[in-house]
Amino acid sequence: MHLCVLLAWTLWVSGSHSAPMKITTASLLENHTAICAEIQKELSADNSTYNGSFDRPQNTSEELCYGKFTKNFISTLKNVSELNKEDCHINKVYKDMKELTTICTKLKPTELPKNCTIERSSFSQFKKALQSVVISIEGWKSCNTIKGSL
Ligand SMILES: *[C@@H]1O[C@H](CO)[C@@H](O)[C@H](O)[C@H]1NC(C)=O
Ligand SMILES: *[C@@H]1O[C@H](CO)[C@@H](O)[C@H](O)[C@H]1NC(C)=O
Ligand SMILES: *[C@@H]1O[C@H](CO)[C@@H](O)[C@H](O)[C@H]1NC(C)=O
Ligand SMILES: *[C@@H]1O[C@H](CO)[C@@H](O)[C@H](O)[C@H]1NC(C)=O
Ligand SMILES: *[C@@H]1O[C@H](CO)[C@@H](O)[C@H](O)[C@H]1NC(C)=O
Ligand SMILES: *[C@@H]1O[C@H](CO)[C@@H](O)[C@H](O)[C@H]1NC(C)=O
Repeated sequence: MHLCVLLAWTLWVSGSHSAPMKITTASLLENHTAICAEIQKELSADNSTYNGSFDRPQNTSEELCYGKFTKNFISTLKNVSELNKEDCHINKVYKDMKELTTICTKLKPTELPKNCTIERSSFSQFKKALQSVVISIEGWKSCNTIKGSL
């Protein structure tokens, strides 16, 4: 529903400026399951390994912490993708994760949830943790907490 409004608005705006119609490069996947599936595809296609330490959640089963974890994943992915612009998979994952937070109200960081421990790890452990969180989110029936918003 919201996406339709947004699309209509975008068309109206581009029309009103009589600019040539542009296909946006942003992902047009409409739901969290499709975005999560794409993130997993990109993560498994990515075979780069990076040296250094990367933040990852200690316990990826803590769903109440997913808001905080997601924010942290995005900040790490932003760093990695800015330093490695040629890594198209990580760049896509970064964009998709950001998009996920715009459609998932459940992923908004809440006021200090309980114990959401984040630790430093290798890149491959970081990737595993990200994969595991994304698999959980993909399994959610809905990622909106606001009743009746869909
Ligand atoms: C999510 O989107 C995909 C493709 O865009 C579609 O095939 C699927 O049915 C959608 N799932 C839900 C739950 O809306
Ligand atoms: C990663 O995969 C690509 C294509 O699948 C391949 O061309 C490249 O050599 C691989 N890189 C490494 C470091 O394995
Ligand atoms: C990463 O670390 C390994 C082992 O410490 C080293 O051999 C390799 O050159 C490093 N790679 C980069 C890109 O710094
Ligand atoms: C991880 O979090 C889950 C869900 O809150 C909890 O049941 C489990 O005991 C935790 N595991 C560890 C090792 O702390
Ligand atoms: C991202 O990079 C900045 C600058 O190097 C650093 O201060 C910050 O801690 C990094 N964030 C993450 C999540 O690694
Ligand atoms: C948070 O949980 C970790 C293990 O999951 C534990 O080591 C740590 O002491 C806990 N911290 C607090 C403040 O409960």
